[in-house]
Amino acid sequence: MFDWNNSYSVQIGSIDAQHQTLFRIAAELHSAMANGQGKTAVARTLDRLIQYVSMHFSHEERLMRLHGYPDFAAHKAEHDALTKQVVQFQQEFQAGRAIVTVQLLRFLKEWLQNHIQGSDQKYAPFLREKAVA
Ligand code: FE2
Ligand code: FE2
Repeated sequence: MFDWNNSYSVQIGSIDAQHQTLFRIAAELHSAMANGQGKTAVARTLDRLIQYVSMHFSHEERLMRLHGYPDFAAHKAEHDALTKQVVQFQQEFQAGRAIVTVQLLRFLKEWLQNHIQGSDQKYAPFLREKAVA
């Protein structure tokens, strides 16, 4: 379900590596859920995912700001909206109002796919031109 492949590559080393890690943590969340691991294990993986996402978004935003990427505001707004959705889910999960469902996994998959292949691909040529690696 969460397999990174070349169609996700933005041809910027640091960002590809982070995207690959994101896929790996999402896959761990998938298997924690599929193997019926306890709530604590799932919560821990979800925490890790959110922390990693936040680090990754900061990395991209720092690069975009540093190089004056013209679509920065729209891209950041997308990051903020995605973060809000996942954090909201996490809160519901912690409060016992939600379980990690196929729905969340599907949301993550669509998000990774659409955001990376859409918005991230849009900044890629711009940053590559600035010799970002
Ligand atoms: Fe990204
Ligand atoms: Fe992004």
